[in-house]
Amino acid sequence: MQAKPLRSSSAGALTGTVRVPGDKSISHRALMFGALAIGETVVHGLLEGEDVLHTAAAMRALGAQAERGADNVWRVRGVGVGGLHEAAQVLDMGNSGTAARLLIGLVAGHPITSFFTGDASLNKRPMARVITPLEQMGASFVSRAGGRLPLAVIGRDDLVPVTYRLPVPSAQVKSAVLLAGLNTAGVTTVIEAEPTRDHSELMLRHFGATVTTEETEDGALAVSITGQPELTGREIFVPADPSSAAFPAVAALLRPGSEVLLRDVGMNPRRTGLYDTLVEMGADIGFENRRDQAGEPVADLRVRGGALKGVVVPAERAPSMIDEYPVLAAAAACAQGTTVMLGLKELRVKESDRLAMVAEGLTKCGVKVEVGADDSLTVHGTGAPPQGGATVATAMDHRIAMSFLVLGTATREPVQVDDGAFIETSFPGFADLMNGLGAKIERV
Ligand code: S3P
Repeated sequence: MQAKPLRSSSAGALTGTVRVPGDKSISHRALMFGALAIGETVVHGLLEGEDVLHTAAAMRALGAQAERGADNVWRVRGVGVGGLHEAAQVLDMGNSGTAARLLIGLVAGHPITSFFTGDASLNKRPMARVITPLEQMGASFVSRAGGRLPLAVIGRDDLVPVTYRLPVPSAQVKSAVLLAGLNTAGVTTVIEAEPTRDHSELMLRHFGATVTTEETEDGALAVSITGQPELTGREIFVPADPSSAAFPAVAALLRPGSEVLLRDVGMNPRRTGLYDTLVEMGADIGFENRRDQAGEPVADLRVRGGALKGVVVPAERAPSMIDEYPVLAAAAACAQGTTVMLGLKELRVKESDRLAMVAEGLTKCGVKVEVGADDSLTVHGTGAPPQGGATVATAMDHRIAMSFLVLGTATREPVQVDDGAFIETSFPGFADLMNGLGAKIERV
């Protein structure tokens, strides 16, 4: 892919009403679970970012039908649990860890052999975290050193149900094990000490599976799936992605006089840690018209610009805002006082080492930051916009690119990112949407 440098210059007040694209986590799952259901699944508001399009292509390669209609609605015709066919080609997951890890779990419970690869970013990311539990269930793997892609999975339809305690808080690992359990006779259980996003559990129930969540004696959560259910095609309404809404929300907060209304934003409590943090920082955010949309809570967010102050973000909050630390760091850089973000180890294994990339980029923009040996990030805000005037490296990471473009709306001099092409993975139309609100983001 050709690099696409982008520059963001200081903007005035941001105003307007927008709906950011559909939730990425929910979109992947709608296609995957629809592909396993009997009958038709109708998906409204699917994210048509590259990550999700890779999942759609993979589901087709595995025997399901998944197409977008002229009405922009996606229709999926599934093959039934256990009915996936062996793909004739290597499954290319592009930049997407969610697509790769969830699908590896899914095919592990089918008597087929599957080959997975990704782009240079994904092929660096750890897959041992899914290989380990799936091997315990009876699937076999051949992977590159350190459990990296490309890898091959030899699945089977007589896996053994396990009870697996997550060594890292990861919804992707939880989901991979539950999806392998989908075609496994008996009950498969995942225990998580820290609650991670529960879209798989909610949506699998919506499709007719029996999925229970119980608290264990030590305060963890045990999520169990009863294998070999019949899933039935459903209608799904994908909320606007709270992780994408974070970018215009923070940009609006940073520009005095702004008022932006973000419509239909997913408000699943396992996803809203950023918004809790911003409110603690003094942000003026109204959560209007709260409602339920096909099992997921949503609201319209009214965001007004104004001063922010530094806060301490506790490690326990990390799973509910794991993708939002880069943009929170941009907000912290403009806040009055110091923001300390604790427990960021998982940021090191995202699309890039986000802890390193955020610290490096902010430093280049004239912000004082420290990365702790405990994987914490401290950002010293002065209450005034930072200098900017730098080109920031994005390392194939969409959220690093968008976060620094948001920072550039407030800095004294423009901020440039070396490559905005990866924004297409999760937020197609990002620059146009932001510019429609009053930002100044342009191709260099
Ligand atoms: C996701 C889980 C998170 C998140 C990712 C999407 C999901 O990853 O960072 O963007 O859809 O399950 P981890 O499970 O690796 O924490």
